[in-house]
Amino acid sequence: MPLLDILVYPDDRLRQVAAPVSSVDNATRNLVDDMFETMYDAPGVGLAATQVDVHQRIVVIDVSEDKDQPLTLINPEIVSTHGKLAGEEGCLSIPGIYETVDRAESIVFKALDKDGVAYEREADGLLAVCVQHEVDHLDGKLFVDYLSALKKRRIRKKMLKHEK
Ligand code: NI
Repeated sequence: MPLLDILVYPDDRLRQVAAPVSSVDNATRNLVDDMFETMYDAPGVGLAATQVDVHQRIVVIDVSEDKDQPLTLINPEIVSTHGKLAGEEGCLSIPGIYETVDRAESIVFKALDKDGVAYEREADGLLAVCVQHEVDHLDGKLFVDYLSALKKRRIRKKMLKHEK
């Protein structure tokens, strides 16, 4: 299984809105496997297909300490949100940058799993934040979009400098 290349901000392809997966097949499952491998290798706790330049609504997450609780979200939807939580976030597409972002404290979300089976679940803490962050990716949104224009500009500059 190959490691996939992760797009780095401010790459325009991170702004593309991902299309729903119409059927969960072997190609989907192979992509999910490669995404998990890429995420664990990075290492990170979540990865959206958008970040590997595949514009389908697929997310992989593992917030467990032992990295043994892989969670696949295909066509994820946030059904409801509760409360507010300000926490520090990072992103594999914005390496080395950590900023405080306001998110819902707990959520209910639904998605399809690797086998195409629908499920719904409640999440709070890191998992809730992670799901919100990754669903944003599928909509072409990044956590820096929640920051001030000045901060965002600084991060953009820093990332462009890194590229060279
Ligand atoms: Ni991210």
